[in-house]
Parts: sequence; C-alpha cells; structure tokens
Amino acid sequence: MQLFIDSANIVHIREIASLGILDGVTTNPSLIAKEKGGFDAIIGSITAAVHGPISVECVSERAEQIVPEAERIAARHPDIVVKVPITEEGLKAVHRLSQDGIRTNVTLVFSVHQAILAAKAGATYVSPFVGRLDDIGEDGMQVVADIKAAFSRYGFPTMIIVASVRNLEHVRKATLLGADVVTVPYTVIKEMVRHPLTDAGIAKFLDDWKKVKR
Ligand code: G3P
Repeated sequence: MQLFIDSANIVHIREIASLGILDGVTTNPSLIAKEKGGFDAIIGSITAAVHGPISVECVSERAEQIVPEAERIAARHPDIVVKVPITEEGLKAVHRLSQDGIRTNVTLVFSVHQAILAAKAGATYVSPFVGRLDDIGEDGMQVVADIKAAFSRYGFPTMIIVASVRNLEHVRKATLLGADVVTVPYTVIKEMVRHPLTDAGIAKFLDDWKKVKR
C-alpha cells in the first residue's frame, strides 16, 4: 500500500516526507486556496520536496479545455498526475489523455459506477471520497470495497486512492480492503504514529534506565 499526504501545505508535506514513509501527494483547488503563495510556487515546492506521484487538479469543464489544461499541468514535472473530476466531459478528456500517456486521477468519485467508467476511460487512479459519503449517512468504505471487487474481477489496472480520509478507522479499513493508495491528511498521519501505550512504554523504559548502573 502506498501512503500519500492529502495536503498543499509545504511545511506539513516536508515534515511527513522527512519520516521516510511518504509515497506521494494529492492536492485539490480547496487545499491550494488555503495556502499562501501562488499556484506555481506551491506546486513547484511540492514537486521539489517529494519524489512520487503528485496529483494536481484541472478546473476546466469541457473536454476541449481539460485536455490542454492537463497537458500544461503535466508538463510542469514528470511526477505530476492530473486530477480530473468524473463528468461526461472529464471521461472524454481522460480517454484522450491516457492515449497520450498522461497519467490521470479521476476524482470526486462516489460510486462503483463512476469508478468503472473512469477505469474504462483509462484512468491511472480513481479517488473515492469516503469521508464525504459518511457525512451524508452512507458507507464510504463499502464503495471502496465494491470498486476493489469490480476492478479485481475484470482486471482493470486502475489504482484506487482512498480519499477524503478523516480518521484512523478509514486508514485501517483501506488497508484491509487492499486499496492501492490511501491519501491521508497531515493530522491523521500524525495520529497513525502515536499510541498512548507507546508513550507510556517509552516513559517507563526511560525511567527504569535511570536505575541501571553504567
Ligand atoms: O483530495 C481531496 C479529498 O481527499 C477531499 O477531502 O476532507 O475535503 O472531503 P475532504
């Protein structure tokens, strides 16, 4: 399983990259809007900090505009994967981009039906948004399970990125389901490291060590 950080905050991205556990980054327009500095500077600093797939989203809505926008975004750095929302125009664009060898991440996926269409269009990744499904009373991880089963059954090479992760339980279930990637916010990655018994254990070991004659 690959671990991505879902963030455009360069301080957070650098900190998590320094742990040696980070495989890639996902951004979106909302995450980028939260940060200071312009789009060019933010993307440039992320590509310099992380060597692995870095998702950057298109904002055009017609295939005729999505394709050139995606080409411009992809030309910035070889690690960039272009994020395209799942719409009819998005599918057309993803199909053309896949034929041109540009990697895509089809985003805002909320159903197995959308995921199958993205895979058929040639998407490199699909991003089911589990937290937003949970927010409306649905079971986001069940959609991931359905997508995983469908892709396995038909041998689609499209990889699943579990996105809109809100808590450790999402990460645990993504792992058990065999998701290819889980993209995790900074705060949840920090929670993954910690356990109260680890903290208590370290405190006890250090305390006992003081009693050892050296
Ligand atoms: O990559 C974006 C996705 O993870 C969205 O998360 O928390 O805004 O639903 P959220």
